[in-house]
Amino acid sequence: MKPKAAGQKTTVGVIDAEVLAFTAGRDVELDRALIAADCLGTAAHVTMLARMPKSCRVLTPVEARKVIAQLVALLRRAQAGAFEITLADQDVHLAVERHLTAKLGALGKKVHTGRSRNDQVAVDLRLYAKEELLGVLAEIATLAAALNDFSRRHAAVPMVGRTHQQPAMPSSVGLWAGAHAESLLDDAALLTAAYNLNDQCPLGAAAGYGVPLPIDRQLVSDLLGFARPIGNVLHAINSRGKLESVILGALTQVMLTLSRLAQDLVLFTMPEFGYFSLPAEFGTGSSIMPQKKNPDVLELVRSRAARVTACQTAVLDIVRSAPSGYNRDLQDAKEPFLEGLAMTRATLRILAPLMAGLAVNRAALLKGFTPDVFATDRALELVAGGLPFRDAYHHVKAHLDELQQMSPAAALAKKTHLGAPAGLDFAAVAGRLRAVESFVRKEWQGLHRAIARLLGVAWPLT
Ligand code: ARG
Repeated sequence: MKPKAAGQKTTVGVIDAEVLAFTAGRDVELDRALIAADCLGTAAHVTMLARMPKSCRVLTPVEARKVIAQLVALLRRAQAGAFEITLADQDVHLAVERHLTAKLGALGKKVHTGRSRNDQVAVDLRLYAKEELLGVLAEIATLAAALNDFSRRHAAVPMVGRTHQQPAMPSSVGLWAGAHAESLLDDAALLTAAYNLNDQCPLGAAAGYGVPLPIDRQLVSDLLGFARPIGNVLHAINSRGKLESVILGALTQVMLTLSRLAQDLVLFTMPEFGYFSLPAEFGTGSSIMPQKKNPDVLELVRSRAARVTACQTAVLDIVRSAPSGYNRDLQDAKEPFLEGLAMTRATLRILAPLMAGLAVNRAALLKGFTPDVFATDRALELVAGGLPFRDAYHHVKAHLDELQQMSPAAALAKKTHLGAPAGLDFAAVAGRLRAVESFVRKEWQGLHRAIARLLGVAWPLT
């Protein structure tokens, strides 16, 4: 038999070194993203502990302030990249407790009274997600604004509308770009719903069954700027993973919008189409073919969309097999969650300048307007002359080779109803994206104000 690996001393006792490495997994690195959230959760928790009835108070208000001062110092160290999570810590929660105990002795050992890592990690992920989702929404608004602006600038530029990718009817560049803008705004509505679900505080659930102490969960929720505490403490723990999958589901929708946009652009920037050209800085070259300007960015947008979907699938599958209560499986939902958020944000950010710099080649777009593109318009002209539509349809179908070239601009000018090429409501789109922006601003202000009040320092730290 293999000799047993040496045990490693940790805050919670000696753990076999291999078991420790296996169970900590990637937490030691990934939890760096959660340091700020973990400190905030601890600050709110000790503030609440110090306000419990005197008879069962474990911390005085002066002691709570000492803990918070140390947390602020820790936050500054972390910001400078000087706070380390070690394998012996297992994760950020025990790293912060180790740090507080090293600085404050017995006082540091008190901070974990009435909580568990289970509700701690749940609150950390929700605080992290809150900031990130506001970031995603802000970036959606920026890209939707770029698309709406592009749509307005090229509203009158004719572009063949396609079904089955085959030429179908006269359309415009404005209609094409505006469709992607509106899709993003729908995705923003899903994200806002996910944001609201996320905006509930799990702290005080402890291991999932509450604690025999008169803790004030409403106070903790208010201190952290959450809309409300989660009611049932077991649900507070069970919602981990499920919540991440909801958020990843909304992110998947964003990525579906972006991969469709990318796929359109890959096609329409091919020399055979030449409708659009990418800004020079978005082309990457080939190591062998000197002439190449490849749309690598757009191709990676498509594959990143696949990867965000994979992140959601991973989390859904982890949740599906987990029973009630905390199960360590949930730790493995962290990586796809953080990855899905980061990947979606990076994709939104790269596409905004790409859209702003996309060049439109009017001549190439006009070349696509062969007479057959006007077949339906011609049938509707016959309808205007009194023919029933089906008869007009068959007439045009029987005389397709006699179809005359029409003016694309004139064809577009006739499509004036709501949402059609000459009936686009740019102001309505702008209004929807301003609503997203003001939601983000209001939520950011509320969150940052609550944190500044909790810590007694300006937030974000300067
Ligand atoms: N790192 C752990 C996680 O992400 C923290 C919770 C550990 N809880 C436990 N009961 N082992 O899930």
